Amino acid sequence: MASNRRALVTGASAGIGEAFARELARRGHDLVLTARRADRLEALARELRDRHGIEVIVAPLDLAWPDGVEALVAALDAQALTIDVLVNNAGYGVTGYFDEQPWPVHAAFIQVLMTAPTELAYRLLPGMKARGYGRIVNVASLAGHVPGSAGHTLYAASKAYLIRFSQSLALEGKGTGVHATAVCPGFTYSEFHDVTGSRALVSRMPSFMWMDAPTVARQGLDAVEAGKAVYVNGRVNRLIKGFFKLIPDALALKLVERQGRRFRTGPHRG
Ligand SMILES: NC(=O)c1ccc[n+]([C@@H]2O[C@H](COP(=O)([O-])OP(=O)(O)OC[C@H]3O[C@@H](n4cnc5c(N)ncnc54)[C@H](OP(=O)(O)O)[C@@H]3O)[C@@H](O)[C@H]2O)c1
Repeated sequence: MASNRRALVTGASAGIGEAFARELARRGHDLVLTARRADRLEALARELRDRHGIEVIVAPLDLAWPDGVEALVAALDAQALTIDVLVNNAGYGVTGYFDEQPWPVHAAFIQVLMTAPTELAYRLLPGMKARGYGRIVNVASLAGHVPGSAGHTLYAASKAYLIRFSQSLALEGKGTGVHATAVCPGFTYSEFHDVTGSRALVSRMPSFMWMDAPTVARQGLDAVEAGKAVYVNGRVNRLIKGFFKLIPDALALKLVERQGRRFRTGPHRG
């Protein structure tokens, strides 16, 4: 990527989003960083400005706020700040069965993991097309390539949505200079499983199943540069994806059910 392009990274206060911000800064991009924890964003912005001499703008925002994306884009427009690279990364998980959570919990999840990334792409795409350059990275998950599990009900669905959405955007972008990629990590060291409350359970996963966030981000940016519509990080994760594509759907669902029982505790373990 050429230098002095500007990238907007959501969920830049931790984990994979922070790693995307660091990698984009290393590649010479100016940045707009967003998440709820302004103190973390400010600290990262200071560090990246000092280290790379780039411009970093901090835009704290709760993406669960339905008007948040519109307000963010309006604020960028008001300052004539164009966005060349969009990294839709912010996300989290909701534990338990679907009917165990009050509706507002699911509504916020859909807003943050599906509506906000879709709206950001929608609002930023026309400018990218007009300038003949754009990169849209949607951080999906290996979970979007395998059947939905019991518990975390909307998670796999939201990631499958991002994968399909990215594929359509990638096709529509052909010839316009805009590339879209769904980046699909498997287990990645970050704060995700602490926030979700599943740290103790996922810690039982063998170490070869885990990747670090900087590698995920670096590979994700390389994939969007290479024009890949979907990229699964890591050989093990690609093998898992390939295996689930080969076997019949009913068997895939059974395997997910069995695996889910091994890695779940509480009333739904049986
Ligand atoms: N870690 C994994 O194993 C893994 C695997 C596959 C895919 N992913 C995906 O990778 C993405 C990043 O997750 P991560 O692993 O880096 O988790 P993380 O370390 O917990 O970071 C999540 C980021 O999302 C932001 N965020 C959460 N809710 C938000 C909200 N309502 N408004 C604005 N920002 C919000 C958080 O910032 P604030 O709390 O400051 O708002 C934080 O910056 C997610 O989409 C996740 O689904 C993760």
